[in-house]
Amino acid sequence: MSPLLAALAPDSSLVAILYIISFSLFIIGIKQGTHPTSARRGNGVAAIGMAIAVATTLALDGIGNWGIIIVGILVGTIVGAVASKRVKMTEMPQMVALYNGLGGGAIALIAWSEYRHWVHLGDVISSKEPVSHTFFLDFENLSIVVSKSLQAVAEVPLEVMIPTLLAMVIGSISFWGSNVAFAKLQDLIPSQPLALPGQKVINAILLAILIVGGVILGINNDVLDLNEPLFIGMLVVSALLGLGVVMPIGGADMPVVISLLNAFTGLSAAAAGIALDNTALIVAGTLVGSSGTILTLAMATAMNRSVANILFGGMGSTSGGGGGDQEQRPYRSINAQDAAIALAYADSVVIVPGYGLAVAQAQHTVKEMADELNKKGVTVNYAIHPVAGRMPGHMNVLLAEADVPYDQLKEMDEINPELPQTDVCVVIGANDVTNPAAKTDESSPIYGMPIIEVDEAQQVLVLKRSMSAGFAGIDNDLFYNEKTAMVFGDAKGTVQDIVAELGNL
Ligand code: TAP
Repeated sequence: MSPLLAALAPDSSLVAILYIISFSLFIIGIKQGTHPTSARRGNGVAAIGMAIAVATTLALDGIGNWGIIIVGILVGTIVGAVASKRVKMTEMPQMVALYNGLGGGAIALIAWSEYRHWVHLGDVISSKEPVSHTFFLDFENLSIVVSKSLQAVAEVPLEVMIPTLLAMVIGSISFWGSNVAFAKLQDLIPSQPLALPGQKVINAILLAILIVGGVILGINNDVLDLNEPLFIGMLVVSALLGLGVVMPIGGADMPVVISLLNAFTGLSAAAAGIALDNTALIVAGTLVGSSGTILTLAMATAMNRSVANILFGGMGSTSGGGGGDQEQRPYRSINAQDAAIALAYADSVVIVPGYGLAVAQAQHTVKEMADELNKKGVTVNYAIHPVAGRMPGHMNVLLAEADVPYDQLKEMDEINPELPQTDVCVVIGANDVTNPAAKTDESSPIYGMPIIEVDEAQQVLVLKRSMSAGFAGIDNDLFYNEKTAMVFGDAKGTVQDIVAELGNL
């Protein structure tokens, strides 16, 4: 073997070092992603890590099919670059769902292709035909484990078979589940929960079939006994389970589901990494799996719901932004001029952004308003609820885009004690995250969810288009509070009007 090929053998030290560098960069990137000032840099660092991992894997001795690989890279790069430039911030959750689904689907196909190699090997052995040297070389390169087992009894070792089956099942569930999540969020299918009668029982049966099928495939691991039709059947059953689990979940709960499916894809990638003996895939998959799990739990906690409650019932049956039976109760409505006067004569103002700010793309105008107020000596801060908007960090990203200073962004726990001393709270396109029912009404679906306690402030201005409900589909007592004044209209237009009025004061 030439020195170059030896250096690029999958188990060589050079390859190990390159992989260690790449996943060290993933970890540094994730760490930098935890703060707005370093998040962009963190993305770049992780992307360099990924480029090293991909380049190392492509350079491995024995990688072939260059035409397909180059076409795949070109198509993926073009589609990814164009889509990420064009996607709107409010469509980010479905974009993540789509990418995540592709990852899961790719892993399921890799698992199938590995299984097919062993089936092929069994066919060759059973045909007793003379096997060419090249052919053996190919097999050696396809999987070290198979080439080892060739010398032994031609069995697929369980430490390879089990992760392959897990990768296939979890990857397929993630692919189909993520596609449903994407379709619901993109309004391609109704976002309401859709379930067959007895769906939970059906899901339990599908899971039981997968367990039994997995045991049968695992036991019959001699390459002469492999059962590809059963393997394909399990791919189909996994697909049905992915559909069966995600279809009954309302579109509004999809961000949490997507995060969970993301964790699944990570786990399936780690399993594929074990099957392929690829360290980079194991580490990258484990990172995605663990960070996805942490994110899922953090989102569920911030909504005061368990992951089981999100997956198997509860709120989230609305698509957000409307619905809900509101009783007719009196409320106060003012215009932009009165709102500007209230703000200009305040000492301290806290802005509470929500999903509507993202819809209206009002972040730059809001920054202008804050600058105008600062000029008048008013202290302005922003209260960031952990699940304001539709994805983690949604508000931080929007406000960072408008160059809002990071020290003005206050987490919920930090700002709540300051609200009783705050003169005016301006709620912009936020609803559920300010709803006092979460503290006071035990029958409310959001009871127990931590909120930004704006009702504690001296005065509250709520900027939204109507009295409609938010994501949870429930009425908001805050709107009827005597301290509250509604300022109706699209958030961007309303804030523009307020900025103009502030200029006249
Ligand atoms: P929501 O409760 O959904 O309220 C958003 C409000 O924005 C709506 O009531 C809507 O009222 C208003 N709005 C929409 N477009 C607008 C526009 N162009 N101009 C002005 N207002 C507009 O949002 P929130 O307070 O940010 O709460 C987030 C919700 O999402 C929570 O219930 C949370 O549990 C859920 N959730 C969040 C996440 C993450 S990770 N962020 C994940 C899953 C679920 P009008 O229609 O009257 O204008």
